[in-house]
Amino acid sequence: MIPASDTVPGAPALRIRDLRKTYDNGVQALKGVSLDVLPGDFYALLGPNGAGKSTLIGIVSSLVNKTAGEVSLFGVDLHAQRAAAMRLMGLVPQELNFNFFEKPLDILVNYAGFYGIPRGEALVRAEEELKRALLWDKARTMARTLSGGMKRRLMIARAMMTRPRLLILDEPTAGVDIEIRRGMWQTLKEINAAGTTIILTTHYLEEAESLCRNLAIIDHGVIVEQGPMRALLAKLDVEGFLFDIDGELPRELPQIEGATLHATDDHTLDLDMPRAMDLNRVFAAFEAAGIRVRSMRTKSNRLEELFVRLTGNHAQQAA
Ligand SMILES: Nc1ncnc2c1ncn2[C@@H]1O[C@H](COP(=O)(O)OP(=O)(O)OP(=O)(O)O)[C@@H](O)[C@H]1O
Ligand SMILES: [Mg+2]
Repeated sequence: MIPASDTVPGAPALRIRDLRKTYDNGVQALKGVSLDVLPGDFYALLGPNGAGKSTLIGIVSSLVNKTAGEVSLFGVDLHAQRAAAMRLMGLVPQELNFNFFEKPLDILVNYAGFYGIPRGEALVRAEEELKRALLWDKARTMARTLSGGMKRRLMIARAMMTRPRLLILDEPTAGVDIEIRRGMWQTLKEINAAGTTIILTTHYLEEAESLCRNLAIIDHGVIVEQGPMRALLAKLDVEGFLFDIDGELPRELPQIEGATLHATDDHTLDLDMPRAMDLNRVFAAFEAAGIRVRSMRTKSNRLEELFVRLTGNHAQQAA
């Protein structure tokens, strides 16, 4: 389908430079975002509500006009060669948007027809995609009778009909239960293993952790963290504890090498320390400073913790 001359060998699957978007109402949704997603990658775009994730995806999929910046897919400039760039990508929007009164097979074949794929070829692809989505036995039943999870998988199967080299999913698992989510992760892993680059936006840190090799965390239209998932998790090799203190805290808190300690209120101390560090050192330092610990507890989920730290307290996670 795609003339080889259109794409540039070795170019990133998605390259974004200094992307900016100001909506008509003055909201600056993107304030200069740059990122590269390499071919074959599984990449997560994480961020709280209103961070700018959908705006970014909207621009990449030509649904939203950018204010400034550059976007290219596999070396094809989105602005200069829009049609060629669009043929390289598939989009799975957040909302279900197929006709519930059609059958999955027809939904896929008609979609392919819209992209100029001949019917014979479309039928072959539809069978393949429906089988991969574990929906082949539902190919000829009314779409509205599919379960929630099946409907989501149908959205992915449809996007795959054009054999996109880059598949972009905007919160593909928002609001679906954990079992359905896990099933979809499996489907996405298979698609990625077969060579398709995947970018997804999500609120679920667990989802990014289990699927993605690289990620960017975006907040208020700015990238606040970017890099390999592994590096991010290594950074998290820190343990956090909260100590309830009996009596008064000393005016000067003890210095504990390698750890950071601060008081969150008159009787609570918050400590971050490397996982390998010995807690006895902490207790020794407390004792020397006359601090009496009444009880202690670990802080909550480490990835969540980091996310909140990076994006501020407004970053309420969707449960
Ligand atoms: N069409 C629009 N007109 C005006 N402002 C908009 C429009 N779409 C989005 N915004 C604003 O741009 C900012 C970014 O929104 P966007 O939808 O990109 O965030 P998001 O990260 O996808 O959030 P969510 O996780 O809630 O889907 C928000 O302040 C939002 O209110
Ligand atoms: Mg969104």
